[in-house]
Amino acid sequence: MTVEFEAIGVVGGGQMGSGIAQLGLVHGLRVYLLDSDAQALARASKSISMSIQRLVSKGNISEADASAALQRLHCTSKLEEMKDCDLIVEAIVESEEIKKKLFIELDRISKASAILASNTSSISITRLASATNRPAQVVIGMHFMNPPPIMKLVEIIQGAQTSDETFLATKALAQRFGKTVICSQDYSGFIVNRILMPMINEAFYALYTGVATKEDIDTGMKLGTNHPMGPLELADFIGLDVCVSIMRVLQAGLGDAKYIPCPLLVQYVDAGRLGRKQGLGVYSYHKLPELAKSTSRL
Ligand SMILES: NC(=O)c1ccc[n+]([C@@H]2O[C@H](COP(=O)([O-])OP(=O)(O)OC[C@H]3O[C@@H](n4cnc5c(N)ncnc54)[C@H](O)[C@@H]3O)[C@@H](O)[C@H]2O)c1
Repeated sequence: MTVEFEAIGVVGGGQMGSGIAQLGLVHGLRVYLLDSDAQALARASKSISMSIQRLVSKGNISEADASAALQRLHCTSKLEEMKDCDLIVEAIVESEEIKKKLFIELDRISKASAILASNTSSISITRLASATNRPAQVVIGMHFMNPPPIMKLVEIIQGAQTSDETFLATKALAQRFGKTVICSQDYSGFIVNRILMPMINEAFYALYTGVATKEDIDTGMKLGTNHPMGPLELADFIGLDVCVSIMRVLQAGLGDAKYIPCPLLVQYVDAGRLGRKQGLGVYSYHKLPELAKSTSRL
């Protein structure tokens, strides 16, 4: 199966979905972007436009190409408008139940040859695929890294029934986006998050049990192990809610108590401290003196 990609759909216009949509646009595709939250969709459209303008100011693309790319963006609230898309990738909340409901709908509205992909960080592709009537043909894990326009990697996950044709077509699209592809078997967390999330969780345990300050934990990992960001900074960047969800998927899928999310991480999420996207996580990203003070004691 050689798929000539012309149009893709992206469901979920948050941090990941907006970045994936941008990649499609600058690589010549028509992109249908949907979010259940109208404000999130408006934010996504604005951030894509600003980000493409930045590419123009850096001389990476011409003014004409940027304007053509933005004209190929269709923001919508109707899933049916994705009926002609060659591939639809979902980047909605990390919940198996909600993603399955979406795949049932995508299965219903998409054309017979469409590939349905999930940007899930950890949830079983095989189980998501089982919600559709054509698991062999369509469902695949297409896991972009954050932020998708910048990060070079896409992790591709074949579910138990995903066909090789679907894999090859998805790989070709990732390569058209300029990405390096790695392949993972369909086990919770795949490759990257299987290794990364327990490290982040352990950093929270170090903070929780008073081993060191957040700054020293992050500096230790940056300068001691040559990571560009410390694990706590990275957790804020990913979203603490996303980190908790992934730990729970690892715990359920791999059945080992070592994956139980650290109580401090859970407490932050319960308190609405979701990381950069909310302005407050382990660190504070806006000037709220009282919150900043309380954050710095931890
Ligand atoms: N944040 C990361 O670093 C990262 C990296 C790789 C993969 N992922 C995965 O990508 C997915 C999205 O993560 P994110 O960080 O972009 O989250 P986010 O919270 O920034 O965005 C999710 C968006 O999906 C929308 N949404 C939720 N349910 C929906 C539905 N049923 N239909 C339509 N829209 C819906 C929300 O309104 C929101 O705008 C998750 O599966 C996550 O695990 C995240």
